Amino acid sequence: MVTMVGSVVVIRLLLMVQLLLAMAATGEALDTAYYAATCPDAEAIVHNTMERLHYTDPTLAPALIRLLFHDCFVRGCDASVLIAPTPRYSSERAAIPNYALRGFGAVDAAKRALEAACPGAVSCADALALAARDAVELLGGCRYDVALGRRDGTRSDPWEVDLPAPFARLDDVLAYFAARGFSAEETVVLFGAHTVGGAHCSSFRYRLTGPDSGGAMDETLRRDMLDTCGAADLPLDTDPAAFFDPDTPFTVDNNYYAQLMSNRTLLQVDQEAATHPDTAPHVAYYAASPGAFLQRFSEAMAKLSNAGVLEGDAGEVRKVCSRYNT
Ligand code: HEM
Repeated sequence: MVTMVGSVVVIRLLLMVQLLLAMAATGEALDTAYYAATCPDAEAIVHNTMERLHYTDPTLAPALIRLLFHDCFVRGCDASVLIAPTPRYSSERAAIPNYALRGFGAVDAAKRALEAACPGAVSCADALALAARDAVELLGGCRYDVALGRRDGTRSDPWEVDLPAPFARLDDVLAYFAARGFSAEETVVLFGAHTVGGAHCSSFRYRLTGPDSGGAMDETLRRDMLDTCGAADLPLDTDPAAFFDPDTPFTVDNNYYAQLMSNRTLLQVDQEAATHPDTAPHVAYYAASPGAFLQRFSEAMAKLSNAGVLEGDAGEVRKVCSRYNT
């Protein structure tokens, strides 16, 4: 019995090491001109789709930035998060950290347009990386180059979704990002994505009744959020949401850092970044440096887009992003 338990532990550890090694791949074989011969208009096709959707629903762009993060930190940027669960097989989408994840329809729309122009050429992982880049630009962030040639994964397992919870301790989160090659500074910069979009009350309602590791929430914000959320948990299908940065919820800017410094943020883990010794100096710097934030945010997003990618003959190029080819 002990040996059986022991071997299960060893197998799980080996799988974990394998996953982390895969995550260390940084996309060196990717190339901005990858589709020059097979789909020269790929970037324009994704951009046009995103632009059209953005003007009818500005909440989509923040959703796509989150979608990229949730894809790239689980098995790398391989579009595994896009696989839809079926009655027979679950998938990453069904995992708790992926609660309220949105933007799948936007990637599907971009992929349909890509398939119409160049069937079987462009992977869903590339479509998502491009869509997230366009989202940053449409929200006023700096445009960055996305090297292409990612392949789509053939596995999507809800049990592998180990994304941090909003109440995770920052020490653990920094270690988690470091294991994927991101410094404390880069982590703080990526957290800056929480300057756009918002969160459902279920992610932060517990903070409204008392201080936590993030410290006490600003009293005015706490009262506003009590009005929005109520003090008691509601069924998830009636879970209200609030913008992270209510003044400019659809603009990539450095407001997030000023909010952190005045305890005016929703998520506990974000708030802890304002006081943690490894992150507080970066928070103060980016609060005072709007241009530096925009530049570094785009660089960090470009790096995120290359995390643990599948290249060459690995995986496949899916025809439909929500399901495997076979
Ligand atoms: C410890 C790390 C992180 C935690 C715990 C976290 C947690 C969350 C939570 C709980 C929400 C609200 C979801 C909802 O209720 O709808 C959210 C939203 C969001 N997150 Fe994060 N996040 C983290 C890091 C990141 C990173 C690295 C990025 C991107 C680079 C990101 C981008 C976003 C965006 C853009 C939204 C708004 C989505 C929307 O409005 O649909 N997050 N995050």
